[in-house]
Amino acid sequence: MPILFARALKDNSDDGHVLFIDPSFVDDFWKDQAEVWSHFDKFDAGEIEHHCLTTQKFVASQHFANLGSIDFLFIDGFHSAEQVRFDHEAFIPKLSPRHLVFFHDSLSNNLSTLYGEDKQYNFSVFEYVDELKASGRYQVLDVNVEHGLSIVRSVDDT
Ligand SMILES: C[S@@+](CC[C@H](N)C(=O)[O-])C[C@H]1O[C@@H](n2cnc3c(N)ncnc32)[C@H](O)[C@@H]1O
Repeated sequence: MPILFARALKDNSDDGHVLFIDPSFVDDFWKDQAEVWSHFDKFDAGEIEHHCLTTQKFVASQHFANLGSIDFLFIDGFHSAEQVRFDHEAFIPKLSPRHLVFFHDSLSNNLSTLYGEDKQYNFSVFEYVDELKASGRYQVLDVNVEHGLSIVRSVDDT
């Protein structure tokens, strides 16, 4: 996904910047910074700033304090309502007035074995997205493909 965003920015000659946060909990793929850069280079995607951290650790870092405003926030980490709430609420102060937030796997309670057979869990992103809808403070567009994608913006920014 970060490569798609970076390519889109490049193809549209936008001077935007992609920040990618992933602690590499599924495998070791994102742990070696040189390997990560070489992987991104293969796609001619331009600069992607990767932090091998959880969102929790990233928001406590100086990188977060120094961050400018964000137009697109794509949330696709651990798919529990609790974690996506954290991912969303942590970044709310950084969102630009024209922002969009994307919640991946937001419409299903799929049983996931991504973190191992012994760490199975059911997606519950939809519970948080339902809360956003019920609050009346957000516009939410659900896209019903695969396990779902919900696109959210705050009406306070209208
Ligand atoms: C469905 S994969 C998405 C991968 C990546 N977003 C991509 O598109 O290539 C879920 C990812 O969430 C990451 N993750 C799990 N817990 C996290 C947390 N607390 N903060 C940030 N990322 C987390 C895992 O390391 C895993 O790679």
